[in-house]
Order: sequence, then C-alpha cells, then structure tokens
Amino acid sequence: MDTVTIEHLTKNFRGMTAIDDLSLKIEKGKITGLIGSDGSGKTTLIRLIIGLLLPDHGKISVLGLNPETQKDELNKKIGYMPQKFGLYEDLTVIENLRLYADLKNVAHDFEKLLEFTNLKKFQTRLAGALSGGMKQKLGLACVLLGSPEFLLLDEPSVGVDPISRRDLMRMVRDLISPETTVLWSTAYLDEAHSFDTAVVLNQGKVIYQGKPYDLAKTTEEFENKVIDLMGGYRKTKSRIAENYIPKNSDVEYTVVADNLEKLYGSFYAVKNNSFKIKKGEIFGLLGPNGAGKSTSFKMMCGLLKPTSGTARIMGVDITEDPENARANLGYMAQKFSLYEALTVKQNLDFFAEIYGIHDENLKKRVDEIIDIFGFFQTRKQKSGELPLGFKQKLSLACALIHNPPILFLDEPTSGVDVITRREFWDHIKSLAQKGVTVLVTTHFMDEAEYCDRISLFYKGDAVAIGTPSALKNKVRAKSMEEAFMKLILESEK
Ligand SMILES: Nc1ncnc2c1ncn2[C@@H]1O[C@H](COP(=O)(O)OP(=O)(O)OP(=O)(O)O)[C@@H](O)[C@H]1O
Ligand SMILES: [Mg+2]
Repeated sequence: MDTVTIEHLTKNFRGMTAIDDLSLKIEKGKITGLIGSDGSGKTTLIRLIIGLLLPDHGKISVLGLNPETQKDELNKKIGYMPQKFGLYEDLTVIENLRLYADLKNVAHDFEKLLEFTNLKKFQTRLAGALSGGMKQKLGLACVLLGSPEFLLLDEPSVGVDPISRRDLMRMVRDLISPETTVLWSTAYLDEAHSFDTAVVLNQGKVIYQGKPYDLAKTTEEFENKVIDLMGGYRKTKSRIAENYIPKNSDVEYTVVADNLEKLYGSFYAVKNNSFKIKKGEIFGLLGPNGAGKSTSFKMMCGLLKPTSGTARIMGVDITEDPENARANLGYMAQKFSLYEALTVKQNLDFFAEIYGIHDENLKKRVDEIIDIFGFFQTRKQKSGELPLGFKQKLSLACALIHNPPILFLDEPTSGVDVITRREFWDHIKSLAQKGVTVLVTTHFMDEAEYCDRISLFYKGDAVAIGTPSALKNKVRAKSMEEAFMKLILESEK
C-alpha cells in the first residue's frame, strides 16, 4: 500500500519550473527521506502533497484522498511541520502545546513529549525566548500531538544539536505507530542514511529512489554518492578570499571574551565565558541547544548588553565603543535577519551602503558578489521567498561584503545542502589563511573538525577548550560526534 501516489506532476512559479513531470510513490508505514540540493523542489513537493499548493498538471493522491478537493478531510489525518513552524512566541512552551492539542481536539497528555524534548524544565518559558534548536523541538512536539497517519517534516533537524537529533529521531520512531508514514526532508545525510527509503530530487525531478543502504553501506560513502547524483563537487579557489584586502593591525588576539555573563531573572544563559582568538584562527563554539552560543555572539557584537564582563574586538571594548568595535565585524545571525521584502540585489546594495561602500565601488563589489555566489538567476527575487539554503548564502554574502577582518558566523550552514556547505567552508578556510579571524558555530560535527580550536559550551559554561584532536584524545573518542557526547555527559556528573 502506498500513502502517496503522484503521476506526472508539474508546478511552475513565474516561468520557473519547480516540479518537473514528477512521478513518485511513498510507501505506507515507512520513513522516506527527501534529499536534494537547495532549491531542488523539496518544500514545493511537500506543499503540493498536502494541498497547500495546487499543481499545474498531474495527479496526486494522499491516503486515498485528493488534496485539492478533500483538503479538510486530509488535514485531520496528517501532521505537517513546515520549515518555519508557527509557534506562538508570546505563549509559553506548555501553552503552545495546549493550544495545538485543542486545535487538533486531542487529550492534554504532554509528559512524554516534554520528556523527549528536554523542555520539561522550561515549560513556563515563552516560546520566543527559546534557543533556535529548542524551538525546533517544540514544533515537532506540537506536530506529533494527535498521532497523525502521515507525518510530513520539512527539515525538522535544522539547527538541532547532535544529541537532540538522535532524540528527535527516537521521538519520531517511538511515538508513531507502525502504520504511520513519514516524509522527512533533510540536509543531514547521516539521518537520511538511516531511513527506509531515500528520494533524491534535482531540479524538480526524482533522480534516485531506493534504500539508502543499497546506494552505500556507510554514511561517508552515502554522502559522496549523493554528491555525485547532485552533479558532483569540485574544489575551486575562493575568489572571496583572493579579493580580500588584509587590514593592517598588530593586535595579536583579535577577539577576546572576558568573563562574559548574561542573566535572565535567576537563569544564567551565559556564565563566565572567556577565550582569546588569534588573528587568522578559526574558533568554533559548539554545544547543545540552549547552551548560550547565540547569546555569547550577540553580546560580543554589541547587540545584547552583558550582565557583566566584556569583549574586545581588534582591541576595542565592545561595551565602551560599540561602533568602532563593530566596524571590524561581519556578523551572520542564526535567524534570517535580512530584509525579506527586498530582492537579493537590494539587500546586497543596502548592506554595502551601510558598511560605507558607495557609488562605483558599491556597484563593483555587488556585481562581484553576485558573480561569486551565483546570485544572477535569483538577484531580482524577494529574499523572503528564497529556499532556506539560498537565504543562508545571501546572509553570508552580506556579512562579508565589506571585507571585515573578523567574521562571526552563527550556524552559517544550517539548512544548507551538502555541496554548498563545502563551498562555504572553502571560503571560510581561505579567508582565515588570509588573516581573517572566524568565530563560528555549527551542529555538523564534520565541520567542527575544520576549526583550529573549539570551545565546547554547555549550560552557559565552557566545559572544554582545545584543538579538535585534543578534545577527542581527552575522552578517547574516535569522532568529533563521540567526543561531543562524552564531554557533555562527563560535565553532567
Ligand atoms: N530573553 C530571554 N529570556 C529568557 N531566557 C532566554 C532569553 N533569551 C535566551 N534565553 C535562554 O538562554 C539560553 C541560551 O540560548 P541561546 O540562544 O544562546 O542558545 P544556543 O546555544 O545558541 O542554542 P541553539 O544551538 O539552539 O541555537 C536558552 O535556555 C534560552 O532559552
Ligand atoms: Mg543559537
């Protein structure tokens, strides 16, 4: 039995083909992973399946229903988690759950969900005050209420830490019945490898469907196979780095965090965070969701006032002289913070202008960025309408448009496809070689290996600082993921 049958489906947006004569069957009671490059049609396909979008051509049947004409009936049987899940930010965690339970007419039985999501302690916190990953987990908990027959999850694990990602997977497997069908889009190929079926999309077409294990036995192999299917990856020289103009400065430690602390009521979001980063160093801030990484970033670039302590950027104190300190910084926020109503090019123009690039220089720099990042096709599109991975790319471009000597990147690769992730890191590594200092967070443990040093953060505290190999040696771990888990567990004791 199939939960979904699709025949010759086509969907165009303003002359661009998003779904191209696609036929697909999704098996009942199985977890199907949906993978593919950014903009390959994953979100569009999911929206067509649940009747949020209507096809131009073709037929779709979902649980024996027509999503176009039987949408209400279908809605009762599915659980859908969109990329931007609509939590009520002014309601608390528990109030959000109650509200969704009422909407779905199901019992208020939240214990298991709160347990699984590690949100039990935070049930009275406003959803708006949760960290990025905590929000993702609450969203999933809301969707799981009412035991849907068909669960559609659009990148549920974006921004979710490695420990919680396992929990999330366990949560889905344990909380659904054996008959439930799951369609799960993801950029994490280790995740996709563990599913029953993998569907790879490319330019609106299915280019592979089958058991992930048949494509490759191990996750590494699987990643390479998927990259090949998506057209392959060639390492090229980073033109961003080639064109970088180094700043003269004799400051040895370009970024210094000095006893940074942030207190909300009686809760320490960050307590006692100190580190020194050398010029040209890539420094990774790792840690589980809610550890205090973004809070540290925000304090270090002067967006949030520390309760105590300070940071120095190129020797300039951020609390005393925020303007001068910030002039040296490029900051990419975790949450998309560009102007959604402006086009790609308008955003680039805007950021170039506020960073003091004008006239001919502005035109030259923006054209160069459009060329290097491949924005030509999308330059006139509103940035709010872009696929997640494209948004991230645009945010990165805006953060480095003014050639800053220091980059603060808060989860730059979350929601970015596997090939673009490699391109991002080519830029980051090449910029560091040119003397740019990089402070970066990531939940991809393969990326953690690219850092010169790492500070592992947990519950507002640095629990370990060192090179990736030093951290692994410390707990005799074979991989960074294993080191992460062990170090966090150890600090719990
Ligand atoms: N305004 C606020 N009021 C109360 N608590 C807050 C507020 N802002 C943040 N917090 C809490 O501070 C803690 C740290 O959040 P932060 O966003 O820094 O985590 P993070 O390490 O970046 O996590 P993630 O990996 O999920 O992005 C969380 O428990 C969060 O809920
Ligand atoms: Mg964060």
